[in-house]
Amino acid sequence: MKLEDIPQAFARARRVAVITGAGVSAESGVPTFRGEEGLWRNFRAEELATPAAFARDPQLVWDWYDWRRGICAKAEPNSAHLTIAAMEQHYPEFLLITQNVDGLHNRAGSKKIAEIHGNIWKARCTKCSSKFEIPETPLTEMPRCPDCKSLARPHIVWFGESYDVDLLESVLQFLSRTELVLVAGTSGMVPMPVYLTQHAMQAGAHAVDVNLEDSQLTPVVDASLRGKAGDVLPDLWRKVQSQATA
Ligand code: OAD
Repeated sequence: MKLEDIPQAFARARRVAVITGAGVSAESGVPTFRGEEGLWRNFRAEELATPAAFARDPQLVWDWYDWRRGICAKAEPNSAHLTIAAMEQHYPEFLLITQNVDGLHNRAGSKKIAEIHGNIWKARCTKCSSKFEIPETPLTEMPRCPDCKSLARPHIVWFGESYDVDLLESVLQFLSRTELVLVAGTSGMVPMPVYLTQHAMQAGAHAVDVNLEDSQLTPVVDASLRGKAGDVLPDLWRKVQSQATA
């Protein structure tokens, strides 16, 4: 697919998937994981985002997540989140698959959303696995299960943990019949976005990635749009809508 054909492809499509990563929230002030200002530059993942880290020092892990929750609480959805929410309204079949846990897609109005890495505003009981919302930040104490009172953990997929099998299966099913995949703001260093895009393309989809720079997606997709997601997505969407009404 040539760059100039992308708006027309999105104007014609009826089944569209969007896959997002941390870059989509960067313009809202939420730090990404990799790159110069990335969280993994300043924090060691194995001390904060693994089951072993939580077993060793749950208070440290909760403190770190609560610090990040404070940043997310102050952030507002940006024009990339809002464009993706508008896309959902437009297409008869649509799915947003996000690695982001910040909740900004929900706040922008997205409803058909698979949060494959979990959500920073939810906790999960370490004993009975019950999930519950934890909207308050800062937390005054580590969250406990409302049902069995056991210690709860952040509802996040940590390093060394498996994805939710049922959620992943429903995502793969959608991608098997999608016409277009738009991937935005992910490095692909955690390779799931690459696998998901390849899965959709093997089933016949075309794919476009949006990023400031080349990523692990670049050799996989049909075409790449370079720039900030908050500029590129609204710009693309304006072109799609003018094609649709032409
Ligand atoms: P990364 O931090 O690995 O990558 C962010 C990507 O966004 C990079 O490729 C940047 O070039 C790009 N980017 C930055 N600002 C952008 C902007 N304004 N517009 C467009 N692109 C921009 O984040 P992810 O790929 O999402 O997992 O990371 C995947 C997972 O690794 C995360 O979900 C997290 C982390 O470990 C967990 O915490 C479970």
